[in-house]
Amino acid sequence: MTKVLVSDPIDQAGIDILSQVAQVDQRTGLSPEELKSIIGDYDALMIRSGTQVTADLIEAAERLRIIGRAGVGVDNVDVPMATQRGVLVVNSPEGNTIAAAEHALTLLLSLSRHVPQAHASTMAGGWDRKKYVGNELYKKVLGVVGLGKIGSHVAKVAKAMGMDVMAYDPFISADRAQQMQVRLSTLEGLFEQADYITLHLPRTPDTENLVNAELLATMKPTARIVNCARGGIVDEPALAEALKSGVIGGAALDVYAKEPLAADSPLRSVQERLILTPHLGASTEEAQENVATDVAEQIRDVLLGLPARSAVNIPGLSAEIMERLKPHLQLAETLGLLVSQLSGGQVQELEVRLQGEFAEHPSQPLVVAALKGLLSHALGDRINYVNAALEAKGRGIHVLEVKDEASQDFAAGSLQLTIRGDQGGHSVTGAVFADSDLRITSIDEFPVNVSPSKHMLFTRHRDMPGIIGHLGSLLGEHNVNIASMQVGRRIVRGDAVMVLSIDDPIPSSLLASLHEIEGIKEAHPVTL
Ligand code: NAD
Ligand code: MLT
Repeated sequence: MTKVLVSDPIDQAGIDILSQVAQVDQRTGLSPEELKSIIGDYDALMIRSGTQVTADLIEAAERLRIIGRAGVGVDNVDVPMATQRGVLVVNSPEGNTIAAAEHALTLLLSLSRHVPQAHASTMAGGWDRKKYVGNELYKKVLGVVGLGKIGSHVAKVAKAMGMDVMAYDPFISADRAQQMQVRLSTLEGLFEQADYITLHLPRTPDTENLVNAELLATMKPTARIVNCARGGIVDEPALAEALKSGVIGGAALDVYAKEPLAADSPLRSVQERLILTPHLGASTEEAQENVATDVAEQIRDVLLGLPARSAVNIPGLSAEIMERLKPHLQLAETLGLLVSQLSGGQVQELEVRLQGEFAEHPSQPLVVAALKGLLSHALGDRINYVNAALEAKGRGIHVLEVKDEASQDFAAGSLQLTIRGDQGGHSVTGAVFADSDLRITSIDEFPVNVSPSKHMLFTRHRDMPGIIGHLGSLLGEHNVNIASMQVGRRIVRGDAVMVLSIDDPIPSSLLASLHEIEGIKEAHPVTL
């Protein structure tokens, strides 16, 4: 029975989708030890930001195939470890964009008009109209740090409100910024000029404590800053100090270096000009339904053997690409599996040559598929699209990619895999005919035209009379039925290859006899 564990609160819409294909256990609030003790029973894990998916937990998750993060940030998942163990990680990159952007805008407005403070004072019996005089956002300079999905939406709404928007994002082109009518700046320039600053970048080793005492000191004393992105980007003790000493005009935070925020956090001692919310950026009914549906659909699809659309750890292999390239990926994997069985010893290099129409496709998915095929002969089910590239790197296999727009083959395009290693090399070429008909079109430069089948036999031999008959009789004596046979040669009575599709695997006693036939130089049974 396929089982999914849901360890954080998830919208019912997601649970309903998962229940179509699996037994769904909702167990929230588990301690790390409790989680570790039960994770081994599950094929999929669905989480929000509450569950910490550590290396330890992934190691204990023997059956786990997919981790679904109902949200954007995967900083609570050890993605490198998941990749190493072949566990797919998916998220919902857009399901809560609007919710998070609107929360940042809410905080900007609330900061400007002292909404939480005025509310608390009024509820406590006060009527203080003077104390809570605020500022308008209209015509003020907004500095957006991180002009991605959320930052762009904030910029768009802020422009509609009459703000002058500037942005710092080292990975955004000047053209894109111009399209959005946002002027790009340096980080330092933005902090010096902005009246309001809003952060929408990821937390990475580069962005940790990016907003520190030094940068805060460059802000206008009236300027206000909002962090609705990730905790740890703002140095919290430095921010508390800047607010207390009047270095900046105000701050609003939704996210914290450590969540929940510690009772003794220096932020809790700031009396004025600070608004804190408990990580509510994505907490709208709409966003929770969006992310739950998005991620549950991906988990369901993966459990059914279909591709996921937002995989975090197989870049370049979106569902759309998988669908479009399905026969090409299948060919790459089959050729990888074939070439690995033609060679013994350690593979040091894989050359992937993409010719004709193959050169027009994105190459990375084809390379990953070829590596999956190459390694699966040795590693079996443990190897998949998630960990193939990493496993190859770990084994020191150097991947060389060659694109050749003009097709050298009789098909519209072809894919050639060549492996080189401590015991020499081999190369195989294949093509896709009529959209889905896979063919092997050459072996070590000898032209052939055969469809791959489950059991095959490949020989390298001298082209001489009697050799085919001898081999055929030996197979017959061992009750191995030949479905088809083809010889490829370049010169008469020179070297040649023979490719046989057979209905049964070759027993090892037969293989030894094949090697004894005069003229046979190599014989490789292959299972595809
Ligand atoms: P995104 O990937 O679309 O955008 C992030 C942008 O940050 C990118 O354009 C990237 O180029 C930029 N960036 C990366 N490093 C940078 C750096 N050093 N300086 C400046 N810019 C840099 O992501 P998004 O969906 O817009 O999410 C933005 C942030 O919001 C993420 O940290 C995400 O985890 C967080 N988030 C928070 C909540 C919440 O509940 N508070 C909800 C959703 C997302
Ligand atoms: C996210 O990364 O999507 C947000 O932090 C929201 C969340 O899941 O709490």
